[in-house]
Amino acid sequence: MTVEAAKIAGSKILITGPTGQVAAPVIDAWAGQAELTALARFSDPAQRAALEGKGVRCVAADLADRNSLSDLRDDFDYVLNFAVVKTDSFDYDLAANAEGLGRLMLHCRAAKAFLHLSSTAVYEYAGHAPRAEDAPLGDNHRSMFPTYSISKIAAETVCRFVAHQFGIPATIARLSVPYGNNGGWPWYHLLMMEQGMPIDVHPERPNLYNLLHTDDYIEKLPLLLGAASTDVTTVNFGGSQAVSIEDWCAWLAELTGLQPEFRDNPAAFGSLAIDTARMHELIGPTRVDWREGVRNMVATLSPQLLKPGA
Ligand SMILES: NC(=O)c1ccc[n+]([C@@H]2O[C@H](COP(=O)([O-])OP(=O)(O)OC[C@H]3O[C@@H](n4cnc5c(N)ncnc54)[C@H](OP(=O)(O)O)[C@@H]3O)[C@@H](O)[C@H]2O)c1
Repeated sequence: MTVEAAKIAGSKILITGPTGQVAAPVIDAWAGQAELTALARFSDPAQRAALEGKGVRCVAADLADRNSLSDLRDDFDYVLNFAVVKTDSFDYDLAANAEGLGRLMLHCRAAKAFLHLSSTAVYEYAGHAPRAEDAPLGDNHRSMFPTYSISKIAAETVCRFVAHQFGIPATIARLSVPYGNNGGWPWYHLLMMEQGMPIDVHPERPNLYNLLHTDDYIEKLPLLLGAASTDVTTVNFGGSQAVSIEDWCAWLAELTGLQPEFRDNPAAFGSLAIDTARMHELIGPTRVDWREGVRNMVATLSPQLLKPGA
């Protein structure tokens, strides 16, 4: 590993999208050791109160709104952009996900490092081939989230432009499939199995991804911040093991006795396995074995579904 981890303890850190699936466990891990500020629209006041109860300063802002950063301080050591919006409006989503990111970077341009969470949804579908960072981009997630891939690609471009233009060290991490004891895609699949709902999969089976456990990404985030550069470091971010929807559902079946019903759908995302070479070189391999991670997820969220001894 060539990267020195950013020091989280004692640092002033801005986290956008703090109430989301991915950022919430990071807040829990870092609250108390770092000086955390959280930015979101906070449409649900209870979520803001819960964060404030953890000692996190909250700033209500809509990243799509050009004037909404006026109450935000600008002296952060590190900024992590987890905010994302997925409506059917291209205008709103591009304004929030792409333009809003640019304004945020300009506002916080004194930061030592900026980490933008992107997605492997930026890659064009290419069968089972693991996607390296220079693989062709495409509108991968259109069938479920019409604006998502395009606005994530636009956000990356804005991130690079602002970093290059203003000399801001940045990393773009293309996240695969995050999961853990707070849920994630395998959790939705378990709920679908419980309800007897069919699970859409691309007909070119198996549908391969790189499940990334919360414990692993919390450990790697300081390294991704450490990897930031004014050239902008773009890196895939997933578990070191590739695993398919079919395999994690088969494991869920073994743990619970519930059976998945797969339905071929050519419009399903399809395999998005990542080439892990650059990730391993920069931040090293991940540690959580996916079977263990998925078992712990079920034991935490639905212990009643676990077969005795599973
Ligand atoms: N979850 C996944 O499976 C997955 C996979 C690959 C990549 N990613 C990436 O990981 C990051 C986090 O995703 P997530 O799944 O945790 O997202 P999420 O659960 O949808 O949460 C989104 C967060 O962004 C905030 N937000 C939404 N619109 C906003 C706006 N206009 N202004 C300010 N804040 C706004 C939301 O709070 P308010 O609504 O209160 O504003 C919330 O805190 C994103 O970059 C996403 O693209 C996620």
